[in-house]
Amino acid sequence: MDLEKLLTDRLTPAFATVAGTPVDPVVRRSQRADFQSDAALALARQLGRPPQAIAAEVLDRADLTDLCSAAEVSGPGFLNLTVADEALAGMVSALAIDLRLGVPVVTEPETVLVDYSAPNVAKEMHVGHLRSTVIGDAAARLLEWLGHRVLRANHLGDWGTPFGMLIEHLVDLGEAEAAQELSMGDLDSFYKAARVKFDADDTFQERSRRRVVALQGGDAATLRLWRLLVEQSERYFLTVYDLLDVTLSERDFHGESSYNDLLGSVVEGLDRLGLLRESDGAACVFPAGYEGRGGEPLPLIVRKTDGGYGYPATDLAAIRHRTGTLGATRLLYVVGLPQRRHFEMVYAAAAQAGWLTPPARAEHVGFGSILGADGRMLRSRAGGSVKLVGLLEEAIARATAMARERNPELGEAEAAEVGRAVGIGAIKYADLSSDRHKDYVLDWEGMLSLDGNTAPYLQYAYSRIQSIFGRAGVAAQPEAGISLAEPAERALAFELVGFGRVVGEVADSLEFHHLTGYLYRLAAAFSAFYERCPVLRAERPIRDSRLVLCDLTARVLRQGLYMLGIQTPERM
Ligand code: ARG
Repeated sequence: MDLEKLLTDRLTPAFATVAGTPVDPVVRRSQRADFQSDAALALARQLGRPPQAIAAEVLDRADLTDLCSAAEVSGPGFLNLTVADEALAGMVSALAIDLRLGVPVVTEPETVLVDYSAPNVAKEMHVGHLRSTVIGDAAARLLEWLGHRVLRANHLGDWGTPFGMLIEHLVDLGEAEAAQELSMGDLDSFYKAARVKFDADDTFQERSRRRVVALQGGDAATLRLWRLLVEQSERYFLTVYDLLDVTLSERDFHGESSYNDLLGSVVEGLDRLGLLRESDGAACVFPAGYEGRGGEPLPLIVRKTDGGYGYPATDLAAIRHRTGTLGATRLLYVVGLPQRRHFEMVYAAAAQAGWLTPPARAEHVGFGSILGADGRMLRSRAGGSVKLVGLLEEAIARATAMARERNPELGEAEAAEVGRAVGIGAIKYADLSSDRHKDYVLDWEGMLSLDGNTAPYLQYAYSRIQSIFGRAGVAAQPEAGISLAEPAERALAFELVGFGRVVGEVADSLEFHHLTGYLYRLAAAFSAFYERCPVLRAERPIRDSRLVLCDLTARVLRQGLYMLGIQTPERM
């Protein structure tokens, strides 16, 4: 139970009595006291009474004795609340013996499906896929830790017209050569070579067309070649996931092609419901409320003029499968913002078809682009899109060099391990700590800095605490009495007891910058505490109390970073 909630629960009935109607006391952290409630100000106009009088009457009626050491009306009618040291200490003690760190398992677990990563076969993963992978994995980890049943779905782009040209290119290259190129992760050159031939060579184009028909018709030889492309690409994607330390595995690949058998019945179903209309020879759904610039209804093309099914049809089939067969009630689509309208229209159509009905709902967890230092879309020196693996390798190389330089005691193997944890952590944290709706600038110096709101700073704080325990040769005693006499101890305690609230909010909003912001404040509060409050040199029982604060900070940092997919090396 967090403090905002405890105080809110105490103030709510008092406000309701005074106002004669339910009122949210709007309790928040404050500079002047520990917490503050401004609700009396808004209420004053409504009740035609001075805000100070309202606030005073609320204080009279609210039962705050065990929770607050001081509660007073200040200024124009704020309520300033000071939490009693014993109450705060009691909460810290409860946290110390709580394996869940104040984040209980949800009482109503649901099946959450997270659609993320979703690169395209025989095409290099780009930075957009990086964002999807990092954000989606954090969502899966966090919701799983809360006790939900999480299904990961890697909606691989493994079907469609480009496969005609890709298979023909594979035939030209020879299977062994093609497999070699793809498994090495040379996806871009493979794709581009196929594209160049397709654009320049009419007979190649014709072969490609015929190949698409054979593929859609289920020709066995063609399917075998297609599978080769898919398998080699999947193998390569798995090496990227491994490097990136994400929880996606082979079992989570559910490419677009896996819905092929459902497409016919999806279109039939839409037709039966009277939702299909023909437009220029294509079968379309026009979900209510979506209009183009000129006010014309916008179509979702489910069957193209040539009879083929496209991206929207696959997504509709996927929704029906996910809610109907898998029983998911919360569907998360972690895909860049340019696809927002596509998803909104798909959700609307699915709802109309009865495949997405409460309690089931879908959310587009959209995100902006990664920009280069020049503020433009990230590009390689040659002007092409940046290869994801190159980016990861650079981060690891930089972080490993840093680790070697900073701590010569680390052997070669440990420096490499720390470099990996810090480099990958820095990349993920840079992504997760920016508001996902916005673009952000990739800044190597900034993200690897040991100062500021970065992964290395938090990892360093964690390792510093581990070294305290290492030096002391003791462990914290969770049952030790907690004393919060110093302001820096109190400030740290307030952060510690706030973990549950932040995690709960982020589980809803999936705005991970609130979690990173929290962890950063926690680490900063710890630094201030550690500067002012000696731990090992303190006398008992103060020393025991401070050891508990240290240990709790480390545990919250580790769990928080774990949910972001970031490791916490014991030393660095
Ligand atoms: N493969 C697509 C892309 O690279 C992303 C797929 C997202 N998921 C979905 N269910 N449509 O843009």
